[in-house]
Amino acid sequence: MNPNDLIHSFESHFNAKPVFIAHAPGRVNLIGEHTDYNDGFVLPMAIDRGVWLALRPRQDGKVRIFSLDLETESEFEIYSLHREGGWIEYPKGIASELIKAGYSLKGFDAVLTGNVPRGAGLSSSAAVELATACAFAAASGFEWDAPRMARLAQKAENEWVGVNCGIMDQMASAACKEAHALFLDCRSLEIQHAPLPQDVSVVILDTSTRRGLVDSAYNERRSQCEKAADWLRVKALRDVSVEEFHKRKTGLDEITIRRARHVVTENARVLEALEAMKQGDVKRLGELFNASHESLRDDFEVTNDALNIMVACAREQPGCYGARMTGAGFGGCAVALVEREKAEAFAQDVAAAYRHRCDLEASIYVCQASAGARILQV
Ligand code: GLA
Repeated sequence: MNPNDLIHSFESHFNAKPVFIAHAPGRVNLIGEHTDYNDGFVLPMAIDRGVWLALRPRQDGKVRIFSLDLETESEFEIYSLHREGGWIEYPKGIASELIKAGYSLKGFDAVLTGNVPRGAGLSSSAAVELATACAFAAASGFEWDAPRMARLAQKAENEWVGVNCGIMDQMASAACKEAHALFLDCRSLEIQHAPLPQDVSVVILDTSTRRGLVDSAYNERRSQCEKAADWLRVKALRDVSVEEFHKRKTGLDEITIRRARHVVTENARVLEALEAMKQGDVKRLGELFNASHESLRDDFEVTNDALNIMVACAREQPGCYGARMTGAGFGGCAVALVEREKAEAFAQDVAAAYRHRCDLEASIYVCQASAGARILQV
């Protein structure tokens, strides 16, 4: 995204200069899948793709946003919110939660653009939410508190938009640091910035498959996890170690055992991945990626053929340390850890192998670990 293009669009649309550019990134989850709503651990990283809002504060409570990508303008009154559907519900949900939390808000005029592919599992909606929160902070003059904004954005998505997500995406978009992944304890919201290993590229492999009914499958997994936690008499699956789980699982039905086994072992893998990152042990990190994929495929059952084939194509390439599906699953993207020097060739060869085996065009992004939501200089 070229900020000058955004500024020019603002000027031609509103006939004035923007005062701020609010930016929030999308994210790719390195490891810790379907653990966030179990109060567990995750290790996402903000990517160099996201959402940008060039804005100019207003003195009243109106928000007008022109979407450059959809070429439509939408507006709403901050203190008189109604649902009408479409992308504008994300900014509205943020306004609603900020008001509930006691913030006093000013409106703004804005032009919005983004380059996170939608529905791919790279958190385009969290990026819109956090960019809007950042825009409100700049326009209304309140301080940016990343965990607080992430919680508000998650509530906006749960309650205003009606999607039952965990906290990972919003925390990643709000709180990541350049060149680092974000280790997050989803219960306490304690974070650690984990340095990405040197000489390694994180490569996102979009299968270009999208499955409908993801929400209902996601909610079904959530209730299976809750059922297992109730049965084990713990608050959440986070409270069970792998050893304890194996001792206490007898009597649970077979599907619930597999779902819970994924979560319990995945939490352990995230903790190990954090150590591997601290020690720069890329080989181990790659093995943990692979084990995570197997667990999501066999126990949690959220992969599809395209994801399994993409992961297989990735692992066959020279320089690949490991690959796994990422995000909610059922389609969308995989992520691979690749020797930096080989990343470009890797991208081309995986795309060719995938095309050959699936007859589908993959989109492949060699991405940089970026910083979380922030105001950029105009
Ligand atoms: C989606 C949700 C997240 C998380 C992942 C699975 O991306 O929005 O909160 O649950 O799925 O790890």
